[in-house]
Amino acid sequence: MAQTSTLSNPLITQADVSFAEAMVNVKGLVKRYGRFVAVNDVSLSIRRGEIFGVLGPNGAGKTTTLEIIEGIRKADAGEVIVDGLDVRTHRRAIQQRIGVQLQATTLFPDLTACETINLFGALYPHATNTAELLAEVGLTEKASARPQDLSGGQRQRLALALALVNNPTLVFLDEPTSGLDPQSRRMLWDTVLRLRERGKTVVLTTHFMDEAQTLCDRIAIMDHGMIIAQDTPAGLIATLGASAAITCEFTENGAPSHAITATELRALPGVTDARDGLEHKVIYTAHVEQTLVALLQYAAARSVTMNHLQVNAPTLEDVFLKLTGRGLRD
Ligand SMILES: Nc1ncnc2c1ncn2[C@@H]1O[C@H](COP(=O)(O)OP(=O)(O)OP(=O)(O)O)[C@@H](O)[C@H]1O
Ligand SMILES: [Mg+2]
Repeated sequence: MAQTSTLSNPLITQADVSFAEAMVNVKGLVKRYGRFVAVNDVSLSIRRGEIFGVLGPNGAGKTTTLEIIEGIRKADAGEVIVDGLDVRTHRRAIQQRIGVQLQATTLFPDLTACETINLFGALYPHATNTAELLAEVGLTEKASARPQDLSGGQRQRLALALALVNNPTLVFLDEPTSGLDPQSRRMLWDTVLRLRERGKTVVLTTHFMDEAQTLCDRIAIMDHGMIIAQDTPAGLIATLGASAAITCEFTENGAPSHAITATELRALPGVTDARDGLEHKVIYTAHVEQTLVALLQYAAARSVTMNHLQVNAPTLEDVFLKLTGRGLRD
């Protein structure tokens, strides 16, 4: 049975996820705190076996949405179906099948990594073997370490191990890599990718667009409690209609030039869009070579120098900027 989307936003392409394919189906979710609407009519479908990312700035409503799906918070309106079960009536059954890593996990200071996993495992009849879990998250060597003797990345990985203790089919990770150094982030990414290889469905939130782009099969971009786009990373980037983002500064006699405007740049050959950065311009193009040649001629005609020229593939950050006019980290 094909699920029909009631949304008119062309950037939300969820109609192609059939009900049988979906591990999670959310429709018309609303959550208010007093008069403030934290989640505003959110609908999404998460496929079995995919890594699904919810990407958005601070306060967008990511955690609230996840916690409603997990059955931790109650919605004011809307429907959540997890693995065929309604979260309102089958909360316990759903919680047996899911693993949750909260945005901030408090670990017991006096328990070692091994003891912590054992303690959580005791809550479930078929808990995963502790040694296997420690190996899964790369903490075998740290089995006897207490939280204060673990690095931030190692604590995050212990929290991930706790989310996996009941061998869940669906795993929620709320900002699993925030505050981590690049190496720890990569290790966590590897663990998440292994979860997908083992057939698990993973839902994660992040405000790192590179993380979403690298890890996620599909992404929902959230802003002000609403999903403003939902697709594969490539599909979202394709909406820009550009094959490259050219960044450069224009200077006149060594000082930033104000002679060049984004409006003028938009008229150059191949250009699909242009915008002002702090001191630089960003020019999106569908024909890099054509645009670069035109840019050089354009600058020369105005006796303006082009500096710090960079040509990059467009990213999700560019998609977010286009959709909201703001950067993800603004
Ligand atoms: N218990 C609460 N009472 C009142 N407002 C709340 C409560 N919980 C969350 N909010 C508000 O709802 C909005 C969404 O919060 P949420 O935690 O879902 O955002 P988020 O996208 O996870 O942000 P972050 O990236 O900072 O984790 C925020 O404006 C927040 O202040
Ligand atoms: Mg959050």
